[in-house]
Amino acid sequence: MKRLNSQLQEDGAPLELILLIRTLLAGCKEISFRVGQGELAGVLGSTLSDNVHGERQKKLDVISNQIIKDILKESGYVKAISSEEEDDVVPCHPEGKYLVSFDPLDGSSNTDINSLIGTIFSILHAPQWMEPDDPSAFLQPGTQMVAAGYVLYGPSTMLVLTTGRGTHIYTLDKTHGGFLLTKDNVQVPEDTKEFAINMSNQRHWEPPVQEYVSDLLAGETGPRGKNYNMRWVAAMVGDIHRLLCRGGIFAYPYDNRDPKKAGKLRLLYEANPMSFLMEQAGGMASTGQKRIMEIMPKEIHQRVPVVMGSKNEVEAMVAYYDKAE
Ligand code: AHG
Ligand code: MN
Ligand code: MN
Repeated sequence: MKRLNSQLQEDGAPLELILLIRTLLAGCKEISFRVGQGELAGVLGSTLSDNVHGERQKKLDVISNQIIKDILKESGYVKAISSEEEDDVVPCHPEGKYLVSFDPLDGSSNTDINSLIGTIFSILHAPQWMEPDDPSAFLQPGTQMVAAGYVLYGPSTMLVLTTGRGTHIYTLDKTHGGFLLTKDNVQVPEDTKEFAINMSNQRHWEPPVQEYVSDLLAGETGPRGKNYNMRWVAAMVGDIHRLLCRGGIFAYPYDNRDPKKAGKLRLLYEANPMSFLMEQAGGMASTGQKRIMEIMPKEIHQRVPVVMGSKNEVEAMVAYYDKAE
């Protein structure tokens, strides 16, 4: 089986980017090991602190963040990082060529139930002019990403990665510690009968989402003319992985529980990297009103409404927004 290194070279990734990705993955392998140890390593449960998003941090949020932060800071390849679990950007090496944004542990509520969790990341070029502690350098649209991916800590540990030449899936061979290519050039089916949305928020959604989902629920006698199935992992990494494997639509739309929040998911740490993977696999990613990867971020922790997955289904949902306008 092909190794990660060979695939990255074949895809034309520059040496320094390959080294950076491998460094980041060394951190993910350590997280994978700790996650595997679970209760035995004392990594489950919550801390007593909240992050910048007002969410109670799990021990694994803090541990994973520390592991990735330390390894990237020491690497020399990175000028600065931004993380879901850091209030501000963290300056790294003044000569570093890249910026890394990451969600060190996605799906934290799954940690204590031994369910799917993962690490999501994206990589940008660091502008020459930037000071390492300048957050404005991170405010680039997703179209500028040079790589994005996630590591899924499931029954097997998997890496899903793109450098803009397709989306490839690798599996961690724990006998020798390498990621081996197990599916290249994933293609998301254009049509689907499966959707993922947190239905408990239904009463808070905007009218186009209400209408779209109620048409899905109406099944084969409704306007969409087919019966749909629903799945919700409560970890975006898990839901997106399912979509990449067999299609589907995933949405975390705006809701008016807290009108100040533009959605739940974060543009830099979750929406952008997943959009890049999805588009590279022939899928689509939108806010409902525009392509996610074209959003010009205003701040590093910005939230955004998200709808992504099988192209024809995302287009169908977007049509409900268009109609409402
Ligand atoms: P995180 O654990 O990084 O805070 O992200 C959780 C996110 C996302 O992974 C998932 O799709 C969503 O929150 C789940 O939200 P609900 O609590 O509404 O299920
Ligand atoms: Mn997350
Ligand atoms: Mn997280």
